[in-house]
Amino acid sequence: MFNAAPIHATTKSELYDELAEQARGLLHGERDRIANAANFAALVYHALPDLNWAGFYFYDGDELVVGPFQGKPACVRIALGKGVCGTAATTRQTQVVADVDAFPGHIPCDSASRSEVVVPLYDGERLIGVWDVDSPRLARFDDADRAGMERLAGIFVDSLRAA
Ligand code: SME
Repeated sequence: MFNAAPIHATTKSELYDELAEQARGLLHGERDRIANAANFAALVYHALPDLNWAGFYFYDGDELVVGPFQGKPACVRIALGKGVCGTAATTRQTQVVADVDAFPGHIPCDSASRSEVVVPLYDGERLIGVWDVDSPRLARFDDADRAGMERLAGIFVDSLRAA
């Protein structure tokens, strides 16, 4: 059984180092997408301060559909190109939004959300979905969070492939 060890990091990059190690341990040996997504969202949500939502939207061949998450109930379907999530999926670029009210077309799910980061998940050319994290704090996410979230999201994508 996996037990999340206490995190002792003093810098953001150390925090993401420790979280990456824990994520690898948590997903090791399991390829089930729902199981890994649920555990991954729970790990990140409880390890990082100032989050109100952390979870997945998966591509169903047509649009993005909400997957496992932690936080309040969320909108179920997001069209490609719409909102922060749909933009991340179509541009293939991580979206770091300091103020969601300033993002044209932002889709509000939890009214407490003030800033957001969304990482597109691709297996090569194949869109899997997006990893989305919201904060009730303005400008909660910086470049260290972008790099950290991309690294964590990569561990999730790898877990789906591993033997
Ligand atoms: N704000 C997102 C929608 C998903 S929720 O934040 C959970 C967007 O604009 O795509």
